[in-house]
Amino acid sequence: HVLKEGSDLHFIEQQLMERLPVSHVKVVPGDGDESPDDVKTLLGKEAAKIMTSFYQEDPVVTVTGGSTMAKVADYMQPVDGVKPTFVPARGGLGDQHEYQANSICVQMATRANGDYRLLYVPDSIGEELHAKMQQEPTILDVLQLMNRADIVIHGIGDAQTMARRRRASDDTMKKIVDDEAVGESFGYYFDKNGKTVHRANSIGLAIDNLKERSQIITVAGGASKRDAISAYLKWGESDVLVIDEAIAHHLLQEY
Ligand code: F6P
Repeated sequence: HVLKEGSDLHFIEQQLMERLPVSHVKVVPGDGDESPDDVKTLLGKEAAKIMTSFYQEDPVVTVTGGSTMAKVADYMQPVDGVKPTFVPARGGLGDQHEYQANSICVQMATRANGDYRLLYVPDSIGEELHAKMQQEPTILDVLQLMNRADIVIHGIGDAQTMARRRRASDDTMKKIVDDEAVGESFGYYFDKNGKTVHRANSIGLAIDNLKERSQIITVAGGASKRDAISAYLKWGESDVLVIDEAIAHHLLQEY
């Protein structure tokens, strides 16, 4: 049975690689909503393995936050002769401490025997102050580093779930609902056609032309994220998808 399952998943991966605008797809068994811990563990292991396969000499890796990325960090391993540097993709998005990109960078660097640079910029400050802070040499330094990342690894969330998790204001929530945002990634909320509906006020990665500079690894599981992932493929870019079966089946129907 296990063998059959493996070859079924392999078949699904092949199909998705033919249909989706990505170069590689890895599908792990299960539905991340039904067994979050097991599925995130599988996603984490696979994503960590894929990440190291992209290592070149002392790579810069930009990472986002979230519980899925935290699992990727759990499975990072040192690679002989390689010293990666991990940088957060955003300054702070009101996530729980252990799920903040900064915390995940530290975890990854510790396990991978690498370095990290952190970015502490609260997302609750006004735009003017944000603009000023982006001129600060120490912050500029980290921004430059993250924007020349060799590898970007990130999670995706359902738009309303993420807005609630970040305790978005009533106005923001209304916008997200009224404008029908379905997905969120890198602090951007987008609708099913891939149009940005709202952008969290935070300092971080410039998302334009990312693919030209970096290998982008997208990691997500759980049926509740399926619309978010379809939308992400229209909104953003990805080289490698690491997803669960629930999402894979949905994408097969959509594409
Ligand atoms: O908050 C950081 C982030 O990467 C979001 O961009 C994404 O929507 C979310 O985490 C995913 O979180 P989780 O893996 O816990 O579902």
